[in-house]
Amino acid sequence: MHIVIAHSDAGAGHAWRHELAARLPGARLALDPATPDGRDTAAEPAGAGTANGFAAEYAVGWAPPADFFERHPGLRAFFAAGAGVDRLMRHPGLPAGLPVVRLEDAGMGPLMAEYCLHELLRIAGRHDAYAALQAQRRWEELPAIARQDLPVGVFGVGVLGAQVARHLGAAGFTVRGFARSPRRVEGVEVMHGPDGWRAFLAATRVLILLAPLTAETENAIDAAALDALRPGGWLVNIARGALVVDADLIAALDTGRLAGATLDVFREEPLPPAHPFWTHPRIRVTPHVSGPTLVSVSAAQVVEGLAAMRRGEPPRGLVDRRRGY
Ligand code: GLV
Repeated sequence: MHIVIAHSDAGAGHAWRHELAARLPGARLALDPATPDGRDTAAEPAGAGTANGFAAEYAVGWAPPADFFERHPGLRAFFAAGAGVDRLMRHPGLPAGLPVVRLEDAGMGPLMAEYCLHELLRIAGRHDAYAALQAQRRWEELPAIARQDLPVGVFGVGVLGAQVARHLGAAGFTVRGFARSPRRVEGVEVMHGPDGWRAFLAATRVLILLAPLTAETENAIDAAALDALRPGGWLVNIARGALVVDADLIAALDTGRLAGATLDVFREEPLPPAHPFWTHPRIRVTPHVSGPTLVSVSAAQVVEGLAAMRRGEPPRGLVDRRRGY
């Protein structure tokens, strides 16, 4: 089996090669020569090369270069080294019929749940307000916000969103979910459809975004959506920046309609230094770290997916190309 690795981050590319090599001793693995540091092939099994002629049957990677699919015409599947495949779906060279498989959780779920819980506890405990008071050397006790006054709405209850919703529910928060189609998540009321969307927003004070970025979800969080939330709400975006209309978010924060936002993802990453999100007093910025890809767990999932494909079965995480995730 020939596998080519195309990762936009050199360190991650090497880590993937190492983890896959340990699990697939008979496979030939090569880093794509056009990816950073792709010429270092020293650790590969004899015979594997990184020349463009390497006849790869499978690819694993993140943000493959523009001519990648042209140079690897024999691919049987592309395994994305991440949960979100929106960028790959927009790759102009991605062959229409090529199966794309995305990571389903791979250790991200519990980390994302903890990230959200941390934010909820900060909100409930008024920690941002205390930070502002500290800066003024003011000793002042503020009323905490009770958990029942912080109903949470998780937009997108797929594999990751469902875990986040269940985790927050177990921590004592009232959690609702919204999904594109009817879905069951134990202990969580999941809404769908246009009426469900309105009811979901109206019931939510802390809106957590975990939906995939598709033509349907792009800009879904606009002025109207933010205005439909319970007054004094928060937005936590750990999905994709383009779900949110940036200017509408800033306007909602400036008018006080929204109390705060925690943003881990952005339309442009790294977030440009001049972007107003950096300095907005009601925005907390983290650099796309809520759900890191744990390469060893992810490699195990890819190996499982390869085995399924070779048995002629659909792998876990197979992307529906029409739906876009
Ligand atoms: C990260 O953003 C991912 O899609 O895994």
